[in-house]
Amino acid sequence: MTERSISGVRVFVAPAAELELAIRDIVLDAIRQKPDAVLMFPTGSTPEGVYAALVSQFRRRRPGAPNPSWSQARCLNMDEYWRMPSWDRQSYAWFMKSHLYGWVDVSTANIYYPDAMAPTAEEACQAYEAQIEALGGIDHCLLGIGVNGHIAFNEPGYPRTRTHLVELTESTIEANQRFFEPPEAMPTQALTAGLDTLLASRRITLLATGAAKAEAVRDALTADPGNDCPASFLQGLADRCTFYLDEEAASLLPGEAP
Ligand code: PGA
Repeated sequence: MTERSISGVRVFVAPAAELELAIRDIVLDAIRQKPDAVLMFPTGSTPEGVYAALVSQFRRRRPGAPNPSWSQARCLNMDEYWRMPSWDRQSYAWFMKSHLYGWVDVSTANIYYPDAMAPTAEEACQAYEAQIEALGGIDHCLLGIGVNGHIAFNEPGYPRTRTHLVELTESTIEANQRFFEPPEAMPTQALTAGLDTLLASRRITLLATGAAKAEAVRDALTADPGNDCPASFLQGLADRCTFYLDEEAASLLPGEAP
């Protein structure tokens, strides 16, 4: 794994499998240090390997072994399609249950997600923010990045704010429609933790893999921080935000090739 600093942010570059194990250990260390850590998780294809690594580590757990229990950990989803019930196989609540929560000993009472079935979006957003505050804020936030530079569903051009309802952009709809049958069934609105919600996390780890993410990663690390590339606001958090990239995702970054 190579390490660089770009705009003050620590950037690690390695093959995806190596990145996934490193991030698995960051999450497990967070739980070791604070058994009731507040952990925010993304959905998408990028973090699947991290979740598989966490599950496989958990299944190797033995009495007295150093692998921590998730029994006190608090787990938060960062977004959800608006009006998608949690039992729907396309929901992000279901995604996290089937990839991670259902395979470790996290208590269902400690799993939180924006309520896409609340009477109004405003109520859902206020309730989620109040929930995060009641939990004492986010200790560790794992992030992916969209091809347009979004983090969670904070789309380019949208102001920095807390949890809100978002109209998904064409490029996000195009990127995610492959999961829906027919593709037109994909919702065009979502609830998302806002940039200010995410940026308040005490530690942030961004994972990006593949050439399709190279431009977004370059802009996140080198463009002037602003709404055109929501991930660029991470530059202001250099002391607590780390990027983990494979060579393809890092291919447009300045500096020495890894
Ligand atoms: P992906 O999505 O992991 O499926 O590429 C990332 C994102 O849109 O944040």
